[in-house]
Amino acid sequence: MWAVPESTGMRKEIFLKIQSVNGFKDILPDSTARWRRVEEAARRVFARFGMREIRTPVLEKTELFVRSIGEATDVVEKEMYTFADKGISMRPEATASILRAFIEHGLHVRQPVHRLYTIGPMFRHERPQKGRLRQFHQLDAEIIGANEPYVDAELIAMGRMFLDELGLAASLEINSLGCHSCRPPYKAALVRFLEERADGLCGDCRRRLHANPLRALDCKNPGCRALVLEAPSLLDNLCPECGRHFQEVGEALDAMGIAFCVNRFMVRGLDYYTRTTFEFLTGDLGAQAAVGAGGRYDGLIEELGGPPLAGIGFAMGLERVLLLLEQKEKETGSPEEGMDLFLAAPGQEALVSCLTLAHFLRAKGMRVAMDYSGRGLKGQLKQAARSGARYTLIAGEEEWARGEAVLRDMSGGGQRPFSLAGGLEERYRRLAGLLQGAEDGPDENCTAPPCQG
Ligand code: HAM
Repeated sequence: MWAVPESTGMRKEIFLKIQSVNGFKDILPDSTARWRRVEEAARRVFARFGMREIRTPVLEKTELFVRSIGEATDVVEKEMYTFADKGISMRPEATASILRAFIEHGLHVRQPVHRLYTIGPMFRHERPQKGRLRQFHQLDAEIIGANEPYVDAELIAMGRMFLDELGLAASLEINSLGCHSCRPPYKAALVRFLEERADGLCGDCRRRLHANPLRALDCKNPGCRALVLEAPSLLDNLCPECGRHFQEVGEALDAMGIAFCVNRFMVRGLDYYTRTTFEFLTGDLGAQAAVGAGGRYDGLIEELGGPPLAGIGFAMGLERVLLLLEQKEKETGSPEEGMDLFLAAPGQEALVSCLTLAHFLRAKGMRVAMDYSGRGLKGQLKQAARSGARYTLIAGEEEWARGEAVLRDMSGGGQRPFSLAGGLEERYRRLAGLLQGAEDGPDENCTAPPCQG
């Protein structure tokens, strides 16, 4: 609250609006239906692959992210929301938390392979822009305990199927980051290459030349991009096992008819990756091209104090998925979250009869809206249109006295008489039949008075 200084002679106190924190967004009722559709699509598709849901806390010990994501990454260096005095941080991603829970509860003891997913908010202190928030949501999937290349292909196929389920297009790029035996010699060769050209590198790449040289490969700076075109490729330096693994992932994707291209410059911003990495990309979101991304992290579970198990996963950025869906539905229209029926009771007298009917219909599962203001028919029909109802049942005092209401098809399909005879169950049965399209179209011989508005 801000108070006007007394010296001005004004006594009025002005209450300033409190706004949300930059980069933290409300999800308003107009878009929650779309969010639900996305989450339901994920659950539907993931169930086909035997994935089971896990939910972990949003706060973890900072050490968990330092050890998994890596100290020299942007996420850990600059983007974590950390309570330094308590040694805890808000999770910037879900993989580390899922693995911590997996280890802590000894899930591997019960069965060798675990397929887990979670949906929830993550936190990164990045510069907000379209498709990039400080609180954002991920749909994260992990397969723990399997290192076969077919598992990589299956997981990628699941990501593709999720996007297909929503009708979203995205290209797929894959790469291999090798393993703990072939990556170190490659890194050394890359450092030598970069050191010789350090003057041409951007400040960030020069700074992390020794700690994280691979990041130069996917740096957005035009100078770095041009320079690394000549850099040695990790794909040419994979050990035979990693080479075979990568080859088989590609063959399995081909066999399933999943198109992809190999991008040898993809390194990912998190340190835990080994072997297969992949990204689903779109050209429709400006600078934020990655809708989802992931990869293998063999060795990480052991580094976090768990058993020596392999793992692979991905995360979709739900805000980005939602933006794409919104764009698509602007062109194709969306399955609206409308009501089934609006019960219009002009005047006060029929309110209780309509309320009783509405309650009965809702208990049967119908989506029913009503207006209790007692406003006239024109106003009620405006409300009905706003509610997105498929039908409006006009049942004022007169209609109840006559025993016959008017049922209006809100998509412009005319109107018909609707008998109010029989009990609630009978009325429900006839309305439900109508909504399921079991009855004929609008009755052109309707004798009811034409509706206004
Ligand atoms: P990531 O690439 O950091 O990977 O994030 C995955 C996805 O989350 C991105 O492709 C993007 O769609 C979304 N995302 C990331 N940051 C933001 C942001 N600030 N605002 C909006 N969306 C964002 C991971 O997080 C890994 N944990 C994925 C993984 C799972 N790897 C193995 N298992």
